[in-house]
Amino acid sequence: MASLCRVGPGPATSGSGSAYCRIMASVERVEYDGDGLSESTVAATPWDQLTRWLDAAVERGRQHGDVPEPSAMSFATVDEDGHPNVRVVLLRLLDPRGPGFVTDTSSAKARELASTPYAAATLAWPALFRAVRFRGPVERVEQEVVDGYFGSRPWDSRVSAWASTQSAPVSGRDELERAFAEFAERFPDRGGVDDVPVPPTWGGYRIVPDEVEFWAGRLGRLHDRLVFTRVGAGTLADAGPWQLSRRQP
Ligand SMILES: Cc1cc2nc3c(=O)[nH]c(=O)nc-3n(C[C@H](O)[C@H](O)[C@H](O)COP(=O)(O)O)c2cc1C
Repeated sequence: MASLCRVGPGPATSGSGSAYCRIMASVERVEYDGDGLSESTVAATPWDQLTRWLDAAVERGRQHGDVPEPSAMSFATVDEDGHPNVRVVLLRLLDPRGPGFVTDTSSAKARELASTPYAAATLAWPALFRAVRFRGPVERVEQEVVDGYFGSRPWDSRVSAWASTQSAPVSGRDELERAFAEFAERFPDRGGVDDVPVPPTWGGYRIVPDEVEFWAGRLGRLHDRLVFTRVGAGTLADAGPWQLSRRQP
């Protein structure tokens, strides 16, 4: 039987109906030569470890320019059929209860959270060979916090929030641009934080983690994985509710 998967760039299309599989051999293999993470260096709480790594990612981006969005976070939900869905959001709201983000509460993710209020999320900083994973129930962020954040966005981003019903089908780019122009005229830029009112569907969600994993890439793929698992009530900044364990890479 012919091999179903060949190594190398391969042809652009599959031949005579045979399966075509491309192994990305042309992509350089990267050794993960990071600092690692050990039981003796990990912080006493998930909060301290998370803020330490977040600060390092921001600083790394400032110095080397290779972490353009340190707060970009993959956020996974499941739909009504139990099928997973994942998208990137920005970790804009962070407090010791957990990581939060803002979004359109009429979006697909919002519908999914309404039926299954649990999520998983990952922050990954490949330049530092580090990632953080969160799992847990999801709650709405207090509306006054979300509204306060809205005012900090640039004027055009605030107008876009009105022009888009996130996740709904749209006939084409023209329709979006027409909607943007309409709302731009309705809410002109006067340089104020309240030029654009907060759209009624603007909202935020927070994962309240029951598990936080810190992953540190090491040479030869023998990575470190240190996991804080919730064993009691409390925040990320409390040492009591968390049990630390190591997982195999
Ligand atoms: C770098 C990056 C940042 C993003 N930030 C957000 C965000 O903060 N909030 C948001 O709703 N969508 C954000 N998006 C868009 C989402 O990935 C997604 O397209 C959108 O939320 C609709 O997802 P849904 O249809 O599953 O609800 C971002 C996308 C990228 C690539």
